[in-house]
Amino acid sequence: MKNVVILISGRGSNLQALLKENLGCAIRAVISSRMDAAGLNHARAQGIPVAIVANRDHPDRESFDAALAAEIDHHDPDFVVLAGFMRILTEKFVMRYQGRLVNIHPSLLPAYPGMHTHARALADGVKIHGCTVHFVTPDLDHGPIIIQAAVPVLESDTEHSLAERVLREEHRIYPQAVRWLCSGKVRLGMDGRVINEGGVTLGTSLISPALEVA
Ligand code: GRF
Repeated sequence: MKNVVILISGRGSNLQALLKENLGCAIRAVISSRMDAAGLNHARAQGIPVAIVANRDHPDRESFDAALAAEIDHHDPDFVVLAGFMRILTEKFVMRYQGRLVNIHPSLLPAYPGMHTHARALADGVKIHGCTVHFVTPDLDHGPIIIQAAVPVLESDTEHSLAERVLREEHRIYPQAVRWLCSGKVRLGMDGRVINEGGVTLGTSLISPALEVA
């Protein structure tokens, strides 16, 4: 069975969604960059070891990432899963876990990398928004895509209501992506593209606003 370490910084709703499902792997530890991350309680409640690698204990990104890598490697994971981990990682760190490091981002990448994705989508008036699970590369929020979910954007949406709609989908696609990784169905190929060994099933299309019935 594959071993997984999950990294968080805050609320931990994706962590909670991951812990609820049978992922076909062992979650060896949850590591947080903040001592007060609420998500740590989800791990503790399930008896999963937790560790803190705190921002403030490290003067620069290099020393933070070195401490983080040491803590991760202590648990010997096959995969490192970023679930709301609010740190930009150095290239050295990312390359150390190449093909084994995944992230969830609250937009349909490559649209809206970075912060405030929902507000930016609303400001642009897009009709479809969503979330993405991808392999992490040194290029922030641009790694090879494993799975995406799309949601309609409503005229009445606020940043909050849109974020909630997207988050519900995050909680569906992240467990699926981790299950694929741990079963070996999905992996990162040498050419930097995602390989799906199990073949892919066509998803459903989304038209937003909906077509009128003629
Ligand atoms: C999620 O929206 C995720 O896409 C982003 O950070 C947020 C984390 O939320 N990377 P949570 O801590 O999992 O509730």
